[in-house]
Amino acid sequence: MTNEPRAAVTKRVSCYNVGEGRCSVIGVKGLNHIGIAVRSLDAHRDYYERLLGARFEGVEEVPEQGVRVAFYALGPPEHAVRLELLEPVRDDSPIAVFLQKRGEGLHHVAYTVDDLPARLEALRSGGVRLIDAAPRPGAHHTRIAFLHPKSSAGVLTELCEPLGGDVAPPAGTRS
Ligand code: CO
Repeated sequence: MTNEPRAAVTKRVSCYNVGEGRCSVIGVKGLNHIGIAVRSLDAHRDYYERLLGARFEGVEEVPEQGVRVAFYALGPPEHAVRLELLEPVRDDSPIAVFLQKRGEGLHHVAYTVDDLPARLEALRSGGVRLIDAAPRPGAHHTRIAFLHPKSSAGVLTELCEPLGGDVAPPAGTRS
């Protein structure tokens, strides 16, 4: 029975009212970006810009994670889907380890959330495996944390909180 999939979230976890009578621990606001591991950002610009028609939004280095990150946006600005290409800048960065094991490709899915520390505490107290027990700095003025793929249906999952107050939790939605 040890191979049975385990439910990631138990009923002990406190959750947020997300409307329509539904309750969610994480309360995802939307898809923030899709993370893709690459050996070279420059090598893939032609594919994303010319073949897919994505808008290049710039490159940012995140020293804490040992990566350079290029962002691309697809679709109309108000509904754009963002892709985050991750290139390692040192051999011990998690992306370098991923590339050694798996090669280039899909790395993670990131959801927009608010109140990240409280989400993490609720998940942790409910027995959900976290890679990051506390938020850490992300690209584009965000703070982020990763859930362990064993607790997120096999998909490495990033929770991403934009800083600057644009996704502050609505008053009275904590339940
Ligand atoms: Co990401």
